Amino acid sequence: MGGALLTRWGDACINEKEYSRNLPNFFSVIDRSPNADIGSKALSPPRFQAYASLQKFADELSQQKLPAPDALLLAVRPKQVLPTLNDARHLLAPSASVISLAAGLPLTRMRYALKANKNLSTPLFRVMPSIPVAIGEGIILIASDSKREQESSYVRALFAPMGRSVFCSDELLDKGTGLWGSAPGYLFQMIHAFETAACELGYKPDQARLLAFQTLKGVGLFAEKQHTEKNISPQELVASIALPGGTTEAGLSILNDKKTGLVPLMQITAQLAYQRAQNMAQEIAAEEEK
Ligand SMILES: NC(=O)c1ccc[n+]([C@@H]2O[C@H](COP(=O)([O-])OP(=O)(O)OC[C@H]3O[C@@H](n4cnc5c(N)ncnc54)[C@H](OP(=O)(O)O)[C@@H]3O)[C@@H](O)[C@H]2O)c1
Repeated sequence: MGGALLTRWGDACINEKEYSRNLPNFFSVIDRSPNADIGSKALSPPRFQAYASLQKFADELSQQKLPAPDALLLAVRPKQVLPTLNDARHLLAPSASVISLAAGLPLTRMRYALKANKNLSTPLFRVMPSIPVAIGEGIILIASDSKREQESSYVRALFAPMGRSVFCSDELLDKGTGLWGSAPGYLFQMIHAFETAACELGYKPDQARLLAFQTLKGVGLFAEKQHTEKNISPQELVASIALPGGTTEAGLSILNDKKTGLVPLMQITAQLAYQRAQNMAQEIAAEEEK
């Protein structure tokens, strides 16, 4: 996910002035993999600089070769967030924002970790992006325990090139992680299901794929346009094309089943994914107690 965000920031810095001027002047990327490569055109120095370790970045900072960071973005796995924050916190001024992408690690837990290290006033954010941020078409849930507008507008501007953001409570971000953050996984699977069904009917695989991609894209765009321009809801759209005795109605008799149809299926899916986020939080807490 860190790579997807970086790719998009790189594109926005080069090609999109409306975003570029509100983005940071420098992105320092700590990528410890031996073949770290942020050398693509979009991510080239001097605006983007890669460091193979936090220590190497700290060295340059201490030699004043770099300005003090405005923000630290933690794009590591949930269990690595607190240890990484612990390693990096001494490099941050109290006013620098800390932004975590991690599922299952609540703001209260991060605030507690910062308090233990006397970073009491650090602006703290959780951000839950979906993978289409890489092409500027993601969704981004943002939660914070900061009430200061200035700090929120910094994060809002940072994520503006990524797609559409919604500010919500930390609890709602947690509950929505397995729905919105994981939704691309569910919809990729939906594309696969369309393809499989089409191939079984006799379509060639490349035809099935093209039809599935275009169907999902077109339906999303069309539904939104109908809503914004005519205030027509998706449910009304269903009714408008599911004519009595027609093919859509026949198909919907399966997908609308009260027990096994799409709505209950998505509710169970979201609940199960939320349970997983809660379990992850417990696993992180257990890890810390060791
Ligand atoms: N994937 C998604 O769609 C998605 C959506 C929303 C939120 N998120 C959140 O985004 C975070 C990252 O997820 P991911 O799927 O991108 O995982 P990932 O592919 O495993 O990426 C995590 C990266 O962090 C690096 N890393 C770990 N510790 C580090 C350290 N101390 N210093 C520098 N780099 C370090 C890892 O490097 P090594 O390979 O060397 O360990 C790895 O490249 C998670 O917290 C996840 O909950 C992901």
